[in-house]
Amino acid sequence: MQTLAVDIGGSGIKVIALNELGEATTERSRVETPNPAKPAPILTEIVSLAAKQGEFDRVSVGFPGVVMGGIIKTAVNLDPNWVEFDLAKVLSERLGKPVRVANDADIQGLGTIQGKGVELVLTLGTGFGSALFVEGKLVPNLEMGHHPFRKGETYEEQLGRAALDDAGKKKWNERLGKAIATLENLFNCDYIYLGGGNTKKITFDLPSNVKIVPNVNGLLGGIALWRD
Ligand code: BGC
Repeated sequence: MQTLAVDIGGSGIKVIALNELGEATTERSRVETPNPAKPAPILTEIVSLAAKQGEFDRVSVGFPGVVMGGIIKTAVNLDPNWVEFDLAKVLSERLGKPVRVANDADIQGLGTIQGKGVELVLTLGTGFGSALFVEGKLVPNLEMGHHPFRKGETYEEQLGRAALDDAGKKKWNERLGKAIATLENLFNCDYIYLGGGNTKKITFDLPSNVKIVPNVNGLLGGIALWRD
């Protein structure tokens, strides 16, 4: 039983194939996210990436927005045409395989957590992703990124890719330190995991319960969508 794991991001679309145990059996491949990032060109990219991954029986997709029952509810960093798009159904028709879709940060978390205590996953990429787990159970649809953080701005406005580009690495690091402290006070986490491409820009020493986790977890976690 092979699972094709797909991660749709604001800058790249990535795929890998996973075996029954959730281990990668192919090399990860990546293409740039089409611009404009509308459903049709993104589906075309996924179908052509899938064709190069060998045989698979089912598909897991991480999407950078709120997903409910396979339907996209928000897509702030892609394109408004995604809202109410039934990604699970349409991609399943295109690939001829069952498809399950979840939020990208949730999948990153499913590929990362230990299943004990309160675990918070934050992803630092184009957007600011968040996923909260209590004893391994996901608290659904936590959108910390769009919650007020400081100076009248949200976490994503202060810490997303645009903010890193505008404010520079030094300020972005200072803000990240404040965000970690604020969220630590709010959730009293056992662990905070930081994922996403911009973790490479972190220059300060993290508290002992905060860990940077590999980006590939955003694909590996896809296996968990099939654990019924
Ligand atoms: C979206 C989240 C997503 C995050 C990371 C945010 O803008 O609202 O759903 O997890 O970006 O992609």
